[in-house]
Amino acid sequence: MKENLIGMILQIEPWIDDSELQAVKRVIDSTYLTENQMTSEFEQGVQKITGAKNVIATSNGTTALYCGLKALNIGYGDEVIVPNLTFVASSNAVIMTGAKPVFCEIKADTLCIDTIAAEKLVTEKTKAIMPVHLYGQSADLVAILEFATKYNLKVIEDAAQAIGVKFKGEHVSLQGDVGAISFYGNKTITCGEGGIILTENDEIALACRRLKNHGRDRRGTFVHEHIGFNFSITELQSAIGVAQLEKLPAIIQKKQEIYDVYRQELAGIPQFQILTIDERCSPVHWFTSFYAENRADLEAYLLNSGIQTRRFFCPLHQQPCYRDMVDKSQSYPISENAYETGISLPSSYSLTTEQQELVIAKIRDFYQN
Ligand SMILES: Cc1ncc(COP(=O)(O)O)c(C=O)c1O
Repeated sequence: MKENLIGMILQIEPWIDDSELQAVKRVIDSTYLTENQMTSEFEQGVQKITGAKNVIATSNGTTALYCGLKALNIGYGDEVIVPNLTFVASSNAVIMTGAKPVFCEIKADTLCIDTIAAEKLVTEKTKAIMPVHLYGQSADLVAILEFATKYNLKVIEDAAQAIGVKFKGEHVSLQGDVGAISFYGNKTITCGEGGIILTENDEIALACRRLKNHGRDRRGTFVHEHIGFNFSITELQSAIGVAQLEKLPAIIQKKQEIYDVYRQELAGIPQFQILTIDERCSPVHWFTSFYAENRADLEAYLLNSGIQTRRFFCPLHQQPCYRDMVDKSQSYPISENAYETGISLPSSYSLTTEQQELVIAKIRDFYQN
């Protein structure tokens, strides 16, 4: 796969260099590879950026979501409302708990969950709503919190893609009951694999710490008060995370510049419309994304020109794995349209001015001819 991509302008790649190597070397030299000092350093670094009271590292974003859901006592017989356009891990984390994900239509402008559409999905089994902060912007947390209060629901924020993203001046995942960030390889910053739970609630934090550590409050004991699992990160991953956190401000700044240039230079093409950013949100443009007319042909044209792009997520109601779970009485025209027309452009820290100019020129060519 990598060989096929040589010479391509990649849609996304991490910024990895000697600083990650040096941090990992510190861990290797210490010979302590399982969760320890470096993980505390990583958690403290994320705490500094987010302002969260409790920051708990896990093996990945999916296990962080799972722990958050379990800590909210969600399980068999419960329903959780999730946006229909998201990565499948959002709803799979719900399924892991034994609860049922209920797919909710999104808003066309921001691609995030539409609480008006969610109104008709509430049943007596509904226990929580899971907004997903997609492609680097925030869902409408004012509407979501109002909705949750109205129906007495918990809020678990899937902030897998949203480190650094703020809504009304506060980092996402602090307004809801609990939230989860992912550090998978394609994220704004990465540990290879890794997750973080954020919560302002100490009881939820304690439950999450137990869940990730075999149900115990500290290591080294073989007496377990609670049932838990092993969702620990490693010192090696945390070391990479610590090095990546140093780079985060520069990455955020570069992604903003990339976004601004695409936005400005492609504004005159009516068939190519950038997503709207909620003005209450301070985004981190993980990806710069558009609605594109004739998306399939554009994608092929760009690929032939050595430019890799990426489609939006396949709506959950169209996922083969959920075929028996879909409520056939619901329709999802906005998610379907997003899936058919959405495109994310090359958005890496490593993108050069010349490369971005080429992407822009090719898109202009495509729509002019
Ligand atoms: C929206 C969303 N939720 C959950 C996840 C799961 O995170 P992870 O891959 O770290 O398990 C991801 C990304 O991978 C994601 O994009």
